[in-house]
Amino acid sequence: MIVTTRQLFEHAYGKYAVGAYNINNAEQTMGLFRGCTDSRAPFIVQISKGARSYTDKRMLEAMLRAADEIFPDAIFAVHLDHGDEETCYDCIAGSFYSSVMIDASHESFDENVAITKRVVDAAHAKGISVEAELGQLGGVEEHVSVAESDAKLTDPAQVEEFVRRTGCDCLACAIGTSHGAYKFTGSQGLHFDVIREVQKRLPGFPLVMHGSSSVPQDEVRRINAAGGALKGAKGVNEADISKAAPMGVTKVNIDTDGRLVWCRVHREAFRDDPANFDLRKPGKVFIAEYAAYIVHKNKVLGSAGQLDGLREALGA
Ligand code: G3H
Ligand code: 13P
Ligand code: ZN
Repeated sequence: MIVTTRQLFEHAYGKYAVGAYNINNAEQTMGLFRGCTDSRAPFIVQISKGARSYTDKRMLEAMLRAADEIFPDAIFAVHLDHGDEETCYDCIAGSFYSSVMIDASHESFDENVAITKRVVDAAHAKGISVEAELGQLGGVEEHVSVAESDAKLTDPAQVEEFVRRTGCDCLACAIGTSHGAYKFTGSQGLHFDVIREVQKRLPGFPLVMHGSSSVPQDEVRRINAAGGALKGAKGVNEADISKAAPMGVTKVNIDTDGRLVWCRVHREAFRDDPANFDLRKPGKVFIAEYAAYIVHKNKVLGSAGQLDGLREALGA
């Protein structure tokens, strides 16, 4: 069942975090829905601009409608990840997405406010909620690449004005994470002080943590043992993610970890069975392994086991 992101946040806020997982293809979609159904967890499916052009936005939408039928127990929202203004308007016009993210965090404060406000006005007119970003994460996203040294933590002194002027529904805060498989290359860690300060100024307001992959070291080791070259890959400590959820971090974004599972499964498959050319063999293993990863991660987030309570709260 596709619900609004707001409904997911209302149930989760302060108690657990909802996993927001990126998809690009059918195998990721099957693994995600299987893992969330097995762990009885609500979730958010994220689609980036890159995914919309890789698989075609119509294919992704059709896949999610099909997954909704194949997994009738699933309760999820559909979200545009790191949208620019044009892509946000396209998703809003299509009326399929539950929420969009407008990422104008690379602009000046006033320009970020102006762009976000335009998107909020268009989205709210259609009952779609909006995630905005203040501060800047390091790493590479679809349309912006930010050097670690240029990343800026969210300034808590700006958040009230930003939310008041834009009317956004949740806020992605830069708290020391970065996108991709090479996080914390400097000595920085997660800034709980920033989360605490932001929540003090915005009590009850859902926060979003980007760049939340934990980059499991066993995956990195196995990838490298099978011919990969991921040197010094590092992610977010899982204990920190569990700690952030009761502090108002209600949406936790994960993409890289899924890519690592994909990479490990396929590298090992081709190493161990060089004569194979059937894509379904590693594909099947990936779906099962990705589902197992999702089950584990939902336990870390605290979303595992929340499905039936949510269904009751929704009266569904
Ligand atoms: O934050 C970015 C996400 O990991 C999506 O990545 O833009 O390459 O699809 P992508
Ligand atoms: P990771 O690269 O840590 O998976 O972060 C993904 C993300 O923030 C998507 O918006
Ligand atoms: Zn992100």
